[in-house]
Amino acid sequence: MNILLLGSGGREHALAWKMSQSHHCDNLYIAPGNAGTATVGTNLSLSPTDFNAVKKACLNHQISMLVVGPEEPLVKGIYDFFQHDPELQQIIVVGPSAAAAQLEGSKAFSKQFMQRYGIPTAAYAEFTALNYEEGRQYIANHSLPVVLKADGLAAGKGVVIAETTAEALETFESMIQNKRFGAASEKVVIEQFLQGIEVSVFVLTNGNAWHIIGHAKDYKRIGEGDTGLNTGGMGCVSPVPFMDKAFMTKVKERIIVPTIQGLQAESLIYHGFIFFGLMNVAGEPYVIEYNCRMGDPETEVVMPRLQTDLVALFAAMDNGTLEDANISFDPRAAATVMAVSGGYPGDYEKGKPIHLPEATSLGKDQFIFHAGTQQQGENIITAGGRVLTVTSFGETISAAASRSLELLHSIDFEGMNFRRDIGYEFE
Ligand code: AMP
Ligand code: GLY
Repeated sequence: MNILLLGSGGREHALAWKMSQSHHCDNLYIAPGNAGTATVGTNLSLSPTDFNAVKKACLNHQISMLVVGPEEPLVKGIYDFFQHDPELQQIIVVGPSAAAAQLEGSKAFSKQFMQRYGIPTAAYAEFTALNYEEGRQYIANHSLPVVLKADGLAAGKGVVIAETTAEALETFESMIQNKRFGAASEKVVIEQFLQGIEVSVFVLTNGNAWHIIGHAKDYKRIGEGDTGLNTGGMGCVSPVPFMDKAFMTKVKERIIVPTIQGLQAESLIYHGFIFFGLMNVAGEPYVIEYNCRMGDPETEVVMPRLQTDLVALFAAMDNGTLEDANISFDPRAAATVMAVSGGYPGDYEKGKPIHLPEATSLGKDQFIFHAGTQQQGENIITAGGRVLTVTSFGETISAAASRSLELLHSIDFEGMNFRRDIGYEFE
C-alpha cells in the first residue's frame, strides 16, 4: 500500500525508516519531511495542518494509510476530517479523533479524565480569569515547588515549575492576565510537584486491544547533569533499568487499563499511539501527561528496538486483529544523542551546512536520524533547533551512548552542541 506520514522531525525520520522496511509498504510519502526522510521515501511540500492539501496528496498518490506524527493536526481534527469525507473514509488513519486528542490538547481535560478513572496523578486545581483571585489564594497556600500548566498546546513551553510563591504568582498572572500563551493559557492547571524519575511508555491501541511498543527515558534539559532550560529533548535511552516487571505491572493495572476503559466509557475514538509521560515516585507510577502521538526523541530509540513490522501493526489496529499481534524487541540497549543548533533552545541561526560521515563509516546498528535538516542543492543544511540525532545499540546504556558520541565527533556544523552525558545515571 501507499503510505503518507505527516511531520518533519527526528520522530518522523525514525517512523519513515521503520515503515519503509515493511513489505506492506509500496510507496512512502512524507509531508513535509526533511533531508533524512527523503532517503527512505518521497517528501511532499505541504503543511500537515492544511487538511485540504493533505486530502489532495492522498488522492494524487492513492494513499491507503495516513500516519500522523505531530499532535497539532490530531488536536485540530484530521482523524475526523478523514472520517467525514467520502473520498477519504477508506484510508486508515493512525491517530486519535479530535475528542480523544484532548488528552494532550487540554491539560484540564486530561486531569479530569484521570480523576474520573482513579488514575494516579498529581493533585491539582484549574483556574481561569473568572476565579483568578481564588487561584492566587490556592497558590499562596500551596507547597513549593508548585507546577503551573497552560491548559492548551503551547509548543512544549506551557509548563512552569515555580520554586517560590512570588514566581508562581507572577507566572499565574502572565498566563491568565497577559495571555502569555494566547488562548492556551486562558485556563491554567496548578498542580503538586512530583519528585521522581520520568519515563515514557508508548502504547498502540484501537480503543479495545492495546500493546506496549516501547518505553524510554528522555533528557529534556539543555545542559549536562540535567541543568539549564528545557528543550524538546536532548537524548533518550531504552530500556530503562527500573522498568522491571513489578513496575510495569503497576503501570498496566493502574494506568494503561483504566485509560483504555475510560476511552471506551466515553466513546472516545482512538486508533493510534498513546504516550504516557510518567513519574516514578519511590517505585509508584504517576501520570505527568498524556500525549496523543509518539515522543521525539523517544521514537528514535523505540523504533530501532521494535522488531515487529510497524505497518502490519497499524493494519492490525485497523482490522481488529491487534490483540493477536506478537511484539518483540531487541534486548540490547539503545541510546540517542541529539545535536542541536548553537543557542537552542533560545534563538539560533539556520542554514548552516552539515558535514556528515559517509554511510559506510556508520557502525553496525547505528543510525543518524535527521530532525531540522533540509536539502539545498548538493548540501544538507540546518533548518531547526534540534538538527539530527545519533542512535546506537550497545550491550549497556553507557556503551550505546559512547558509540553515539563517537559518531557525533565525525559530524559537524557551525555552532553544533550536544550533551555528553545521556544515560549518565545508568552505567
Ligand atoms: P509537560 O508539558 O506536561 O510534559 O511538562 C513538561 C515537564 O515538566 C515534564 O516533562 C516534567 O519534567 C515537568 N513536570 C510536569 N508536571 C510535573 C509535576 N507535577 N511534577 C514534577 N514535574 C513536572
Ligand atoms: N520528548 C518529549 C515529547 O516528545 O513530548
